[in-house]
Amino acid sequence: MKRLALPLALAFALALTLSAAFASGAPDGKALYAKCAGCHGADGSKTALGNKALKGLSSDTIAKALAGYKAKTFGGAKKGMMEGQAAKLSDAEMKALGDYISKL
Ligand code: HEC
Repeated sequence: MKRLALPLALAFALALTLSAAFASGAPDGKALYAKCAGCHGADGSKTALGNKALKGLSSDTIAKALAGYKAKTFGGAKKGMMEGQAAKLSDAEMKALGDYISKL
């Protein structure tokens, strides 16, 4: 039984760490990007709808663009498409999306 105690304690500690990570509620950029991939492409390089490629943009540029769409102070001819997307995003989600997309 003693031999099992350490692995069990480690497993318990790991489970606690993992649940703490989920409970912290940090938005997951990858999961959020699933909604964007249809228009922007899995790697952010799709431009079929007249949108500029997201690939290569900095995290900050992306987060600012999203905040601008949400506030209706940014955008081009097709901004209507993005205003709906950005309207529901929190600042933390915009940052998570920027961080994720900038590394694609
Ligand atoms: C229905 C299609 C569609 C979806 C879904 C969509 N986008 Fe867009 N996106 C566009 C179009 C079209 C533009 C260009 C809009 C304009 O004229 O300003 C654009 C522009 C952008 C820009 C500005 C790029 C630049 O260089 O100025 C960012 C950033 C962006 N989208 C991020 C996202 C993110 C993040 C999501 C998911 C939450 C998303 N988009 C979902 C179509 C879409």
